[in-house]
Amino acid sequence: MTTELESSPHPITIQEHILNQQRTHATATGGFSWLLSGITQAAKIISASVRRAGILDVLGDAGDSNVSGEQQQKLDILANKSLEMCLGFRGNIGVIASEELNEPKVVPKSGASGKYVVIFDPLDGSSNIDVNVSVGTIFAIYERDTTGFNGFDAVADVLQPGIKQLAAGYIVYGSSTVMTYTTGNGVHMFTLDPSVGSFVLAFENIKMPETGKYYSVNEANYNSFPKGYQEYLKWCKTEEAGPYSARYIGSLVADFHRTLLRGGIFLYPPTAKAPGGKLRLTYEANPIAWLAEQAGGEANDGKMRILEKVPQSVHDRTPLVVGGKKDVARLMKYMEMYGDEDVPQASTKAATKATAKAVAK
Ligand code: AHG
Ligand code: MN
Ligand code: MN
Repeated sequence: MTTELESSPHPITIQEHILNQQRTHATATGGFSWLLSGITQAAKIISASVRRAGILDVLGDAGDSNVSGEQQQKLDILANKSLEMCLGFRGNIGVIASEELNEPKVVPKSGASGKYVVIFDPLDGSSNIDVNVSVGTIFAIYERDTTGFNGFDAVADVLQPGIKQLAAGYIVYGSSTVMTYTTGNGVHMFTLDPSVGSFVLAFENIKMPETGKYYSVNEANYNSFPKGYQEYLKWCKTEEAGPYSARYIGSLVADFHRTLLRGGIFLYPPTAKAPGGKLRLTYEANPIAWLAEQAGGEANDGKMRILEKVPQSVHDRTPLVVGGKKDVARLMKYMEMYGDEDVPQASTKAATKATAKAVAK
């Protein structure tokens, strides 16, 4: 006879889930699970700050800019500190790198022996903080070269291609706080239950639909997208296409979260302002790309697979296309057709200007 306790549904916490995953690796020592629990701890601290942002004095500019020249928000700094604090004392992390740190940092207590490298975007979607729209945290974990052959070069430890990630994930502080992670064994999603402070399993082994009805892009930049992207976006608006609906939040983490669950495609192509793309390879594109692939989707830069790109610097940028297999494949057909052809052609530009002038009269 089963007791009431045995038959009642058991909420699986992220800690239990990570430990169960660990048991599938014969050589795992538990150190990796301990590290991941540092990330969940930081996520809870950041989530609490985001939820109380209008009450605490944490909204607005911090009055400084980061290495990419972008204004730092108070919450960017707070999130970065929370992660540094929660990871710095785990004892097994050698190096951390962050959007908000100019250079990778060797962790003071465990730098020489620390086996892992953690790279993160502490708060993604900064421009949305002050207007109560979803923001997030993105992270990637790698193994560190502790042989000393590269002279314990922290920068070299960070410049690994995404294909070498051991774990990746994100936390989205949306209508609820959700954490999604992979260790190369599927993609799993957890919801933070604020009443008990635990992340509880929501979906295991998520599979991204092969095609969806949303395209997601900052279309204000349309005029300077390479022609392949423009022609693809024109197709998205045709009857034959469905038609698609447009969705663009402006926080990669939130736009990707929707794409993962509902399917479709997210694009951040090269633009006149950011010819090499805007998003960062090491702490935005790589973790998102691996999650997408683990869920059966694809991610590339319009030419090659994101996970095979070798970063040249910590804050490298890249164009990003990520989404369901069929949606990405179609975009790639347009890219192959138009190659590197840039737009706008002078005649289109002149015509647009002339029309704008006439309308202004
Ligand atoms: P961050 O706030 O970490 O600097 O990231 C900014 C991002 C990313 O989340 C989003 O996809 C993109 O910038 C939006 O850029 P646009 O405002 O140019 O569309
Ligand atoms: Mn970001
Ligand atoms: Mn950020």
